[in-house]
Amino acid sequence: MLESKCLPNGFEYIEVTNKAATAKIALQGAHLFSYKPHNKKEVLWLSELSDFEAGKAIRGGIPVCWPWFGMNDNITLPQHGFARTSKFTLTGTDESDPYITKIRLTLTQTQESLKLWKFAFGLELHISISNTLTLELKTTNTDTKPFQITQALHTYFNISDISNIAISGLDTKVYLDALTSKYHTQKGSITFQREIDRVYQGVNKEIQLQDINKTITLQNSGSSSVVIWNPWIQKCARMSAMKKDAYKEFVCIETANAFEDFKLLEPKQSHTLRATFVP
Ligand code: BG6
Repeated sequence: MLESKCLPNGFEYIEVTNKAATAKIALQGAHLFSYKPHNKKEVLWLSELSDFEAGKAIRGGIPVCWPWFGMNDNITLPQHGFARTSKFTLTGTDESDPYITKIRLTLTQTQESLKLWKFAFGLELHISISNTLTLELKTTNTDTKPFQITQALHTYFNISDISNIAISGLDTKVYLDALTSKYHTQKGSITFQREIDRVYQGVNKEIQLQDINKTITLQNSGSSSVVIWNPWIQKCARMSAMKKDAYKEFVCIETANAFEDFKLLEPKQSHTLRATFVP
């Protein structure tokens, strides 16, 4: 079942219920902010202080960072691009299998987007909700000039406590530490005792998020960069729409095309960034 819902302030979202799972997706940003397979815990973290308001990115779930990841060279432009605060259109649904719901949300250039980024584009997010979750973000260059993108599916995972988790699958990978701008090589799995903000490169394997009594597997394609982020105490206290100790409740593992993993698209060319979550 697929229901269109609207908050009193006009903020629209879609609620999905099928035989395998439930999910909620905001039209703004094509932002999935809840995914729960039946008999399992909520997979995504959502800040209880999150705004559901036009023009403000939801804090939690899976923000779509596009057409740039992080800060733009022009620092007056919004961090992580404009897709996460743009209203998408629901352009396709498929409920033919009672265990799988498929949704397609679409964004194209507007007068507003052309002021921030001067290209015509087609952006589609295909979401498949079942006992696993798949997101495919397809960018098509509909302009007459080539363009370059960086991007991420910026997933906030719901965890029991930051001190309980380990992330594996990135052993031996080189990463850029965004806090020091230095490169290092990962040894073993990642655990958290302080702020971590890293871009792993050359990633070509599954990633596992291990928590007490559960493991979530993440399979990425169209991507060789993965961002691992937790703000820890001080940054968390400074962040918008996050309570003081929220850093204990989530970790971000972001399926990305970041930094050297940017994509250059010629006119009519497409690129798809894909993430599958196996809870
Ligand atoms: C991460 C970055 O991807 O996003 C962090 O690596 C950043 O540096 C975080 O703080 C959250 O960004 P924002 O714009 O949603 O507050």
